[in-house]
Amino acid sequence: YVIGVDLGTSAVKILLVNQNGEVCQEVSKSYPLIIEKSGYSEQDPEEWVDKTRAGLAELINQFDGDVNDIEGISFSGQMHGLVLLDKENQVVRNAILWNDTRTTKQCQEIYEAVGTERLLEVTKNPALEGFTLPKILWVKENEPENFERSSVFLLPKDYLRFRMTGALHMEYSDAAGTLLLNVAERSWSSEVLDKFNLSADFCPPLVESHALVGTVTAEYAQQTGLADTTKVFAGGADNACGAIGSGILSEGKTLCSIGTSGVVLSYEERNDLDFEGKVHYFNHGEENAYYTMGVTLAAGYSLSWFKDTFAKNEAFEQFLEAIDEVPAGSNGLLFTPYIVGERTPHADSTIRGSFIGADAAHERKHFVRAVLEGITFSLNESIEIFRNSGKNIDSIISIGGGAKNDTWLQMQADIFNAKIEKLTSEQGPGMGAAMLAAYGCGWYSSLKECAEEFIQPLKTYQPIPENVEVYQKLFKVYQQVYTQTKGMNE
Ligand code: XUL
Repeated sequence: YVIGVDLGTSAVKILLVNQNGEVCQEVSKSYPLIIEKSGYSEQDPEEWVDKTRAGLAELINQFDGDVNDIEGISFSGQMHGLVLLDKENQVVRNAILWNDTRTTKQCQEIYEAVGTERLLEVTKNPALEGFTLPKILWVKENEPENFERSSVFLLPKDYLRFRMTGALHMEYSDAAGTLLLNVAERSWSSEVLDKFNLSADFCPPLVESHALVGTVTAEYAQQTGLADTTKVFAGGADNACGAIGSGILSEGKTLCSIGTSGVVLSYEERNDLDFEGKVHYFNHGEENAYYTMGVTLAAGYSLSWFKDTFAKNEAFEQFLEAIDEVPAGSNGLLFTPYIVGERTPHADSTIRGSFIGADAAHERKHFVRAVLEGITFSLNESIEIFRNSGKNIDSIISIGGGAKNDTWLQMQADIFNAKIEKLTSEQGPGMGAAMLAAYGCGWYSSLKECAEEFIQPLKTYQPIPENVEVYQKLFKVYQQVYTQTKGMNE
């Protein structure tokens, strides 16, 4: 057996996977976001540690096999979040997360200090509020005493792993989202570090995603019931793990993954393509591979916001039930999911969402469907960027919350105008983490070989021409809403 731990934004999900790639047990434990003011988004790293430990203990407690047969464990993690540690490796302050947008000023400073073109050359990405370097600079400027106490930074899943093994590491797929990595050369960029007087020791040692970084400490083993011989592998960014866990391991493969955020990503063999920073360009969890990706900041988050606001006590299935009664296009009701700003294509942290076209005949179910359509339109903007760059996208694998509902899957086929494939497991990131452990343990000679064994297609959804037509018209209106509402809150 191997274990995949997916440290998400709303919960940690833990999967126990056997040698055939079957999920034998699954535990999930949720934790809240700490939102002190609009634009802020934090979490307490101790909460991740507690919930993961409790989840593992529960999983082991229910496991009726021999714990010594659990050979390895690895991680998938929410990207970009800043965890600062002091000299004693104690957490300095709450983690500032990927969906926190307080750092617009720091992004500007990065462009000025490094130069826009040079930043794109070295880090392959623009300076966005969600990335890690702007968060480091924010702490330096606004909480100098916390910054002074900090001697190293980690990303969320790296901290979780540190608490399990006692060793500090980071791996390339997550380091790529810090703006401190030379993505093509796969090393910390001394050029960028120097510009901000950050020392090389501030960055942890880099390893491959499948690298063995230690074993579970005796104390951790005792707390969870895991064997202290269980091998721990570095793991990857949630999007890289989502790609691994859905077999996005060769050119031409595209993934749509809808969690709290939503992403569309595409495998890249090469590290020298130029997307002018319009999409993110990161290291894959597979050695020497890359992927490009567009991000919708509030995908599942828009849906859970809407439900929490208007139907808090209803079960999700019940809440979504009536959307089948609403035709494609929600009878003219349109939603833009910019409730916390937007990344792709606008990179605008100040934009906010809207409902337009409300009619006296609309009921709640129209609003629910419009929310799903708005999220999917936003993801379609990323697909348009890929198509305009010359990629041929006629088939997309869909995972995450967006792959749990048939109507939403059909909607993706209709809005993306592409065949949508659902897999036997929609748990991409957790499965990807388990696959990194399986590969690290030597069960397979490559991640591709592991994917052939672990991942099977379950169902496909073909675009329905009438719906495609409705959506293509509505998408044009959707795209205008941004221009018309930009600057409204300034
Ligand atoms: C990617 C991003 C999000 C998080 C979600 O750049 O910010 O997709 O990884 O966990």
